[in-house]
Amino acid sequence: MKFLIDDANIQKIREIYDLYPVDGVTTNPSILAKSGRNPYEVLKEIREFIGPDAELHAQVISLTADKMVEEGRKMAEILGKNTYIKIPTIPEGLKAMKILSGEGYNITATAIYTPLQAYLAAKAGADYAAPYVNRIDNLGANGIASTKCIQNIFENNGLKTQILAASFKNSQQVQELCEYGVGAATIGVDVIEGLIKNAAVDSAVNAFIKDFEGLCGEGKTMLNCDK
Ligand code: E4P
Repeated sequence: MKFLIDDANIQKIREIYDLYPVDGVTTNPSILAKSGRNPYEVLKEIREFIGPDAELHAQVISLTADKMVEEGRKMAEILGKNTYIKIPTIPEGLKAMKILSGEGYNITATAIYTPLQAYLAAKAGADYAAPYVNRIDNLGANGIASTKCIQNIFENNGLKTQILAASFKNSQQVQELCEYGVGAATIGVDVIEGLIKNAAVDSAVNAFIKDFEGLCGEGKTMLNCDK
């Protein structure tokens, strides 16, 4: 499962990239709006930081296929070849996916709340389909089960589209889909930090340090305990 950051805050992206094994960054219009800055300014800054080979996902705004296609072409031109054009999975979006995938662009079908949206996006040539796990849960349905259903649909129909699971609110959601082997997950910074935060782990690590320092002296490590 690829591991992406669902955020546009460059400082947070830098911090997470420094520590975690990250494959790329996803954004959506609401995430970009939080920056209060021009979207291209923010996206170019992210691209410059993550480099040309990492995935950067950014969304079109228009509601007609023709305009979505124009937006997508412009975004890919400005943001580079590993840009994934996020297109909402509505009928006009399917048309735009068919056109842009036919031209060789990378497509992420987004705003997926049902498995049949994902099926149609895959048929339309999307590289990724992004089910919104937690938002599906909030509708009273089951985001994990829907995402697993999408994976089964792709496999059983020989569709090459990968899942880019999105909208996570807790570690359990991430773990279940990781175990199931979906293609990718994009996760907000708070949830990423929660994936590995554990008081028991901190306590174990601190106890090891205390014991070692009891043996070798305060501040000593394997680097200088022989001096
Ligand atoms: C994917 O990129 C989605 O836009 C995003 O994960 C939605 O997350 P939210 O439900 O936390 O807004």
